[in-house]
Amino acid sequence: MREQYRSEGFTEDTLAADPMQQFAHWFRQIAVGGMLHEPNAMVVSTATPEGRPSSRTVLLKKYDARGFVFFTNYESRKGRELTANPYVSLLFPWHPIARQVIVTGRADRVGREETVAYFRTRPHGSQLGAWASPQSTVIGTRGELLARYEELAARYPEGEHVPAPPYWGGFRVVPDTIEFWQGHENRLHDRLRYVREGEQWRVERLCP
Ligand SMILES: Cc1cc2nc3c(=O)[nH]c(=O)nc-3n(C[C@H](O)[C@H](O)[C@H](O)COP(=O)(O)O)c2cc1C
Repeated sequence: MREQYRSEGFTEDTLAADPMQQFAHWFRQIAVGGMLHEPNAMVVSTATPEGRPSSRTVLLKKYDARGFVFFTNYESRKGRELTANPYVSLLFPWHPIARQVIVTGRADRVGREETVAYFRTRPHGSQLGAWASPQSTVIGTRGELLARYEELAARYPEGEHVPAPPYWGGFRVVPDTIEFWQGHENRLHDRLRYVREGEQWRVERLCP
């Protein structure tokens, strides 16, 4: 499969006019082909206002014309960093098919309704997990975490409505640039980058 992708040309004339459409095209190819485990796993990089970066993997839960949505704890390290400095980078590392997509943009909190609607679709155990874990804080032992979970499980048995924690929710990354990278032999890779210009997108080709 990787070989097939490597041999496919990736040229300006085959690109969608809009980068989110182009993303949808690549993402669907991967999802339909079942080629990758968790193709929606992406690396989210944030930085403090002083410019100190940090990265971690999260799952893309939704994308649409406005951008890319993931859910997390707003008081986690990434949540706090994004609150202080909304500039963010996303990276989809689709190594087995020699592709990557790199996004830069701003992360805005999604509306509470959107968060609550998504939270309801999560398995009961994950809903409790969001309450049990003050993400990114130091904890003494795993036993403490499990005890918190058990307490919550007793309070909210399976089938009981679990409210979305107030400190938990979605971020929508609204892109400024999206680069589509397609690997080829001899390091002559294709790199096509959409750059936002007002309501329009300009496409530029980068040297590999
Ligand atoms: C495959 C994978 C998917 C993950 N998905 C999420 C996610 O959707 N949301 C989330 O908050 N953390 C997710 N995590 C955990 C994060 O990588 C990270 O450990 C956590 O969010 C705390 O990050 P922070 O301390 O930098 O804020 C995922 C980890 C992996 C390996």
